Amino acid sequence: MVFGFIKNLLFGIEKVILLDKVVVVTGASSGIGLGISKELAKKGCKVILIARNEEKLKKAIESFKIEFGNEKCYYISSDLTKEEELNYCHKEIEKISNNLGQYVEILVNCAGEGPWKYLEDTSFKECYNMISSPFCAAFTITSLLLSPMLLHGEGTIVNINSPISYGVWGGCVGYLTSRWALRGLTESLKYDLSGTGVNVLEVIGGETRTEYFESNGVNSDQMPFLSNYLPKVTVDQISKATVYGIENRKQRIVLPFLLKSLLYFDFYPFTVFSKYLLQSKNSKNYLKLIKLKQNQFKLEQLQQKQQQQQKQQQQQQQQ
Ligand SMILES: NC(=O)c1ccc[n+]([C@@H]2O[C@H](COP(=O)([O-])OP(=O)(O)OC[C@H]3O[C@@H](n4cnc5c(N)ncnc54)[C@H](OP(=O)(O)O)[C@@H]3O)[C@@H](O)[C@H]2O)c1
Repeated sequence: MVFGFIKNLLFGIEKVILLDKVVVVTGASSGIGLGISKELAKKGCKVILIARNEEKLKKAIESFKIEFGNEKCYYISSDLTKEEELNYCHKEIEKISNNLGQYVEILVNCAGEGPWKYLEDTSFKECYNMISSPFCAAFTITSLLLSPMLLHGEGTIVNINSPISYGVWGGCVGYLTSRWALRGLTESLKYDLSGTGVNVLEVIGGETRTEYFESNGVNSDQMPFLSNYLPKVTVDQISKATVYGIENRKQRIVLPFLLKSLLYFDFYPFTVFSKYLLQSKNSKNYLKLIKLKQNQFKLEQLQQKQQQQQKQQQQQQQQ
């Protein structure tokens, strides 16, 4: 490890040449995953796109063929929250890579979903889906594709994550937990794979306008106040930054720049200020709503008690 560090310092980091590399991107039918797939296809990678929506995937690879003349684009339609579909996906990836006579050298874990809800409003299915994708999907696909990367001493694993994996904001307990789990996976892999030749890159993007918010019913009242002060990120920016990170063997890319500085200010008294900034209109109202419910409950209990006492008094008088 030390030798590698000194070598990099003296001779610079050897860039990853993307041309002709086989790449798997999950969550590639829309948003950030689609943007990254497009950038990689443009660079001449043989991209394998994974998501559930077959129509969107087909459309994406057709456009790569027309726009970039890249014929080596593939798709696998699969729901990554289901074990049997993950296994199917692995078999399909193996088929494609065997035909190409290559192994998957780059994996981008971007599939993710999840509404922002309080614990008591989250169903078991929602909780299961949120943990399954992104976390379990990234965990399983990485474990299925890692061995050849380790044998060749060359590979890149990219995990796309949210700033919430470095903090807490209210009213999205399942979403937050799954992104913290994904960060745990990223940190574990960075530790375990250090020195093996396989690089682990974490990409943290601030608010990026994709279908995510509409598909998952997230509205502006749920966004932390901080997001009002940060510039929005475009799919193009985050995709280009991710590809730069892969080529230059970076370990963490954070966008926008202001967010990057905030992630490192995790100490007192700044934490008090950041706690305020991470509040949302929704989470501020939550406490008021709970207090209101508590007062109503107390009032009902009091009324019940009074009614019981009155009943007892009436019974005693009748006796
Ligand atoms: N947008 C942001 O501001 C932002 C910022 C930071 C991080 N992120 C994270 O980046 C990831 C992608 O977000 P996005 O903004 O690009 O959202 P998006 O446009 O909704 O894309 C989500 C992708 O994941 C796929 N997907 C979801 N569930 C899946 C499943 N069960 N199996 C297979 N594929 C699945 C979707 O495809 P199908 O529906 O076709 O399956 C889609 O391709 C998420 O994990 C999100 O938390 C987003």
